[in-house]
Amino acid sequence: MNAVRELQIGQVKVSPALVLAPMAGVTDSSFRRLIKELTGVGLIVTEFISVEGLTRGNLKTHRMMKFLPEERPLSIQIFGYDEERMAMAAEIIEESGADIVDINCGCPAKKVVKGGGGSSLLRDLPQLEKILLSIRRRVKIPVTMKIRTGWDDHSINAVEVAKIIEGSGGNMVAIHGRTRMQGYSGRANWEVIAAVKEAVKIPVVGCGDVVNAQQAIERFAETGVDAVMIGRGAIANPWIFHQAVDLMEGRTAYQPSLAAKHKVLLRYHELLRDEMPERALCGKLKQMCGYFTHGLAGGARLRERVFHSQSIHEIFDQINEYFASMIERSVPPDVLFDPQEYKHQHARDPKTSEFARGVDVGV
Ligand SMILES: Cc1cc2nc3c(=O)[nH]c(=O)nc-3n(C[C@H](O)[C@H](O)[C@H](O)COP(=O)(O)O)c2cc1C
Repeated sequence: MNAVRELQIGQVKVSPALVLAPMAGVTDSSFRRLIKELTGVGLIVTEFISVEGLTRGNLKTHRMMKFLPEERPLSIQIFGYDEERMAMAAEIIEESGADIVDINCGCPAKKVVKGGGGSSLLRDLPQLEKILLSIRRRVKIPVTMKIRTGWDDHSINAVEVAKIIEGSGGNMVAIHGRTRMQGYSGRANWEVIAAVKEAVKIPVVGCGDVVNAQQAIERFAETGVDAVMIGRGAIANPWIFHQAVDLMEGRTAYQPSLAAKHKVLLRYHELLRDEMPERALCGKLKQMCGYFTHGLAGGARLRERVFHSQSIHEIFDQINEYFASMIERSVPPDVLFDPQEYKHQHARDPKTSEFARGVDVGV
């Protein structure tokens, strides 16, 4: 039998070598636990958290940092500019019992970039280095960075950045294969990710446009990356990590039945309902239902009905009716997921569009 890929980030063992990408408005504790229950993902990363909010005692920001032991190994991602604030935030994270602190050097949002954080650090390498060195001095847990390939097509510098990260004591670098200016358009450039892998000895995690398990396996083979990170593909298909492990071990990938998909929505509701009031809960379920039903026969009609529902009861009436009728008609549960389609839906969704629109989440 083939072996499952693993990697070591400092003292943290990540097995399998598959990572749930940080996603603002999505990878909160409920979603992370849902993924963890369904699949053996190796590492999960929180939504990005503002160091300003964290170090100034903002309650909402501190709530975003909360996690349960079953989510571990867990990496908490922070964003900011000032090295002292970043180091203070890293200390708070270490005290919380998180396994890894990750620094966001990829967020394209205007508000984050204006403050000097996120992807703007790719244009200010002395500051990027200062931040990493200052955090490194203050915490013992592994420190990692998530970057993009560069600011724009004329300044692709991921290899240079990765060397700085390695030289400053960073324990891993994750690269989303797009430039800041690309946002989420075009295709992720895995050639740059492969070049980074060639250039440094610390673990390199590749990210971008992996929407099925077979693609994850191909990215390992083509680029030699130490781990593959998956974002949007895991929202549409939370079993993607489980399926990738099946392929690594030489098995046919698990295919969730329609009943399993139905159950996941019910479970997500269970996990969410203790966390938020009914109105927010309705919004989250509408969002999730939208992602899950892309590519399913009759999915558009269900989304429309769910979107116009006024209460949790109404939402579940629609969902239950839909799945009952699909199961009765034996409709195949294909997930035909297109990240571009996701992007358009995401842009319209007020619950998840903060990251893309540039609203500062968590401050
Ligand atoms: C809704 C959404 C929110 C995101 N939030 C974050 C974030 O907080 N921090 C971060 O580093 N990247 C964030 N990203 C980028 C993802 O982590 C990932 O790099 C990107 O989506 C490409 O991977 P994918 O094609 O597998 O989705 C976000 C992406 C999406 C779609």
